[in-house]
Amino acid sequence: MAYDLVIRGGTLVTHEGTGAGDVGVRDGRTVAVGDLSRTDGGEVIDATGLHVLPGIIDTQVHFREPGNEHKEDLESGTRAAVMGGVTAVFEMPNTDPPTTTPEALADKLDRADGRAWSDYAFYVGATPENAETLGELENLPGCCGIKIFMGSSTGSLLVPDDASLRRVLENSRRRVAVHAEDEERLKARARIASEAAHPRAHPEWRDVETAFNATRRLISLAEELRRRVHVLHVTTREEATYLAGHKDVASVEVTPQHLTLEAPHCYDRLGAFAQMNPPVREARHRSGLWQAVANGVVDVIGSDHAPHTRDEKSRIYPKTPSGMPGVQTLLPVMLNHVHAGRLSLTRLIDLLCQGPNRLFGIVGKGRLAVGYDADFTLVDLAASREITDDWVAAKCGWTPFAGMTVTGWPVGTIIRGRPAMREGQLIDEPSGRVMRFYEGAGP
Ligand code: DOR
Repeated sequence: MAYDLVIRGGTLVTHEGTGAGDVGVRDGRTVAVGDLSRTDGGEVIDATGLHVLPGIIDTQVHFREPGNEHKEDLESGTRAAVMGGVTAVFEMPNTDPPTTTPEALADKLDRADGRAWSDYAFYVGATPENAETLGELENLPGCCGIKIFMGSSTGSLLVPDDASLRRVLENSRRRVAVHAEDEERLKARARIASEAAHPRAHPEWRDVETAFNATRRLISLAEELRRRVHVLHVTTREEATYLAGHKDVASVEVTPQHLTLEAPHCYDRLGAFAQMNPPVREARHRSGLWQAVANGVVDVIGSDHAPHTRDEKSRIYPKTPSGMPGVQTLLPVMLNHVHAGRLSLTRLIDLLCQGPNRLFGIVGKGRLAVGYDADFTLVDLAASREITDDWVAAKCGWTPFAGMTVTGWPVGTIIRGRPAMREGQLIDEPSGRVMRFYEGAGP
């Protein structure tokens, strides 16, 4: 059998476990997995000494285009993705204008065409005004689902009250992704932030109850309406325990930031560069999140890549915007946690590949298996490197993980059989494509 590409001699990480093997690719798909040492022809990538993972999928990034291209755009954001070994992204709707109409979604798809390095899909933002149209919007080609902001964050999107939340849930069918912070409580406590004038107050303003109240309200409606919800960036031990009892309706995302950084230390060291919503909290929450990773409650890890410029982050808190870049550091930071024994490589692949596939029904992605897209992330588990600001391809040019030495590094990104990054160098031109979903329309 002739292949366009053979990845030879690596350690494959598949649904079966981890073992030596080769992968054969034809027409952008995986067509053979096993011992292909006797085949010739086509391009060969020597993966000796490397692990071959299914392509990493980041299900939460903010790329800022249109409206705030000085922070990031679809080209730079997806470039950062492939530099970090990420083959596909779900991009968030809090752009300017927000992605709340068919026209805004079509505009993003036009902009991504020919400029995206990784594959992509876009969330549509829910508002009280578009609630009745969400059933159509969520099925448009290129849409990965609906996003709800229950509390104000970056941008104008907001579904603050239960009556509007109910309308959004009633008018849609696919799994809805939710930023769960309680708007009323945020407003009532805003003085804590302005009086403190230091980001150390961020987790006090946006406290445990702010997150937990919203999550309880959401789950109670989801159970009543029998709707599936995806609780984004869970940050508290309390929510992790509560959500374990509601897996019938809720899937759970955590981020590398919340699994790695810790309050108050991160605010003393990084100031507003550690500020995000919901906030990085104290060590007891971080260990609660790790427990939820270990016991299977967490379904996916998303980076919540949310870049802002150094100037914007250097204002006086709370005038500083919330969010930090992360799409490029997602895999190195998590591989380092694998190296430290906090989770297995198999579990990491469950969280970054199979989890997204299972929750969102992405056609042909999330597994290293025959018949799937030939998306692979090649990693050197023995490589020890320091994460530096100069390595960051995102426009903001900084990362909260600068100075951290990690063991485990992405050295190759292959998307539908085409190498996009090798040894830190981009290859050829952007060739990302829009993803398709089992639910929702195909392009
Ligand atoms: O910290 C955050 N930044 N949280 C969000 O919910 C939005 C994000 C952004 O877009 O900046």
